[in-house]
Amino acid sequence: MKILSIETSCDETAAAVVERLPSSNLKIISNITASSAGIHARTGGVIPEDAARKQIESIIPVIKLALSESKLSNNDIDAIAVTVGPGLIGSLLAGVETAKTLSFLWNKPIIPVNHLLGHVYANWLNQEKHSEFPALSLVVSGGHTDLILMHSYDEVEYVGGTRDDAAGEAFDKTARLLGLPYPGGPNISKFAQKYLDKNPNEKLTLFPRPMIGDNTFDWSFSGLKTAVLREVSSKNSKLSDYKSIAKNKGVVKNKEKLSAEIQEAIIDSLVEKSLRAIEKYKPKSFLLAGGVSANSRLREKFQSRIPLLRDSGKLAPIAFHVPEVNLCTDNAAAIAATAFFVGKEIPWQNIVANPELTIVDK
Ligand code: KG4
Ligand code: ZN
Repeated sequence: MKILSIETSCDETAAAVVERLPSSNLKIISNITASSAGIHARTGGVIPEDAARKQIESIIPVIKLALSESKLSNNDIDAIAVTVGPGLIGSLLAGVETAKTLSFLWNKPIIPVNHLLGHVYANWLNQEKHSEFPALSLVVSGGHTDLILMHSYDEVEYVGGTRDDAAGEAFDKTARLLGLPYPGGPNISKFAQKYLDKNPNEKLTLFPRPMIGDNTFDWSFSGLKTAVLREVSSKNSKLSDYKSIAKNKGVVKNKEKLSAEIQEAIIDSLVEKSLRAIEKYKPKSFLLAGGVSANSRLREKFQSRIPLLRDSGKLAPIAFHVPEVNLCTDNAAAIAATAFFVGKEIPWQNIVANPELTIVDK
């Protein structure tokens, strides 16, 4: 079975063709992503109207390219999968309306997909062995930080999440306070790495880790912005808000050290709480997902800490999964993967974009 999938929830326009082999493994035949991040870098963040306009321009060329790279025609496609939410309404509509039109014209079934589950199911792409249930999954993206327990494909329980800013949002907003461009995560990570290469053993404890010691599985990242702003403006009183920093980008000192501190504060919070949830729920696998899971230090921390838990005798063996780096951020192959495992075909007339969808919504 082959699915043509479409993803337009934010500033990426993506289409892919994915095949489920008889072994049930998923093979990516083509996977095209066009990003309007360059435009948003100029404004310091995504302006929804600009993102939607770019989606409309890019969607047809991107779908055509995904089909031509797959060397297949619409006749070879069995179904169309499309992200219906959560996301920006204008961006979502570009994908949803295009998918509806193609479904009608080509007479193909359509499968609505939850974008957040898409991030989770990126862990099933290009894998010989599928993740085992129960699986605990941490989704860390620009708009969401959610911890879920998957008892099976269809049974998903919410365990915890952010009470304010998402982890990716914390990277993006604090990057702005250092005068680094959008998207902040990859830039903070690059600057942090330079510092860590020179100071591999330094303890990085400048910024707070709120809620790290409490007994919930929730996070709070919004205070990090204030802490970073206070630190930056304490060194130069002219740098007192986003605007003055944008004007005097080059003036912010110690960008490498501050990036390392920011990254460590976010990663420590994510890792400590997740490990505690692993101890409580004792899953067979732990899945990391979402744009922030592209962060190499976060990946390494989980990779090294999970076996320690296992060795301490607290747990039965648990497998750690994280998607290939290029499949962590928004892409359409992950949307097809979700459709194969939990998708339900519905008539195109019933497909509705829902910007407020949560990770446990069906
Ligand atoms: O999942 P995603 O592509 O889009 C959303 O659904 O939001 O995630 C984008 C987020 C942005 O906040 C971006 O800064 C962050 O993922 N991100 C990273 C890295 N690459 C992307 N954060 C930290 N380190 C990275 N290497
Ligand atoms: Zn995403």
